[in-house]
Amino acid sequence: MNTPLPEKILILGCAGFIGSHLLDRLLQEPRFTVEGWDLDDTKIKKHLDNPKFTFVKRDISTPQSLVALEQSIEACDMVFSLAAICNPAQYNRQPLNTIRSNYNDMIPVVDMCARMGRWLCHFSTSEVYGRTLASHVTPGDYPAPDLYELQENSSPLLLGPVCNQRWSYAAAKQLLERYIVAHHFESNLPFTMIRPFNFFGPRMDFIPGRDGEGVPRVLACFVTALLDRKPLQLVDGGHAQRTILWIGDAIDALMAMLDRPQQAQGEIFNLGSRDTEVSMAQLAHAIRQAYAEISGDESYLDHPIETVSSCQFYGPGYEDSDRRMPNVENVWQKLGWKAKTPLDETLRETVAYYHALYGVKETV
Ligand code: UGA
Repeated sequence: MNTPLPEKILILGCAGFIGSHLLDRLLQEPRFTVEGWDLDDTKIKKHLDNPKFTFVKRDISTPQSLVALEQSIEACDMVFSLAAICNPAQYNRQPLNTIRSNYNDMIPVVDMCARMGRWLCHFSTSEVYGRTLASHVTPGDYPAPDLYELQENSSPLLLGPVCNQRWSYAAAKQLLERYIVAHHFESNLPFTMIRPFNFFGPRMDFIPGRDGEGVPRVLACFVTALLDRKPLQLVDGGHAQRTILWIGDAIDALMAMLDRPQQAQGEIFNLGSRDTEVSMAQLAHAIRQAYAEISGDESYLDHPIETVSSCQFYGPGYEDSDRRMPNVENVWQKLGWKAKTPLDETLRETVAYYHALYGVKETV
């Protein structure tokens, strides 16, 4: 029997970076109606009057929300769960909040989806692979592909010691993955798990001092430094490597999933690009160059870049994943999806967005 195509979508965390882009795309398609929950509507204001969209300004973590949450899950065909704390600075400084938001607060959602048989598409993280250790191992010392190429169902998940708070997030996310898979095993929960590998694009995180406070992820940190004409900071020399995926490509994968529920259910998907790997030092240079081109101000080509220790930058308890190279065979096989946007295009589009929003005003 064919699984029916979902039409009524519930997004928990609809106004964050990924949620707001997913909402943009879903509302363009006649097939979907969407209910979205979030604490803030700043990034989705343009959709608030759309008759195909219902916004619920509510915190999923409060006991008072449980009845409404249950009704919302019952009324939908599938749930995207995107509500989470997802910035390394927060894992280090607020590990309890990090564990509660990424594990405890999600348990009722998973239980309800299991009880009602609703398809749960849960956003986990590439950080479940942990330290990865690729750069510490001499090729030949270990079955190498498992180390540098991260595979959903075979790579080791190498978390650091419990006293290093950095891993509070990855451990909470990993336990929730196990909880979801256990529910699938024992109560037939239809699920799909997404492990994002550094999505970049407009509306990512926040720019401190302009639309938020704290330490965002690396893209927003570098953009903030350029806007403030302060040095870009490379944590521990900027040797860590990441692969960067354009947010539009990531949303394409989610749309492919909605068209092929049968192939997507019961799967864990790495969503990432294999052709865009950079060290953080290379990324700093590339973002600086993109900003110089977009602003037309050549002085940015020499904008200072400095090294800071992770302890100075994040406080004690920080450790890093040294390299995250996704194996994307599963998502290609099941959904026919692969990343297509080159890194320079992703950076240009993203930097142009931030420059238009904040840079132009500040240079007049
Ligand atoms: C974070 C989350 O923990 C993951 O769950 C998530 O999947 C991932 O982002 C993502 O965006 O997909 P991470 O890549 O470590 O993981 O987070 P970033 O803050 O973007 O840091 C990337 C690298 O840049 C790290 O090595 C960090 O130390 C470095 N960094 C960060 C700098 O060198 N300078 C900065 O100003 C900020």
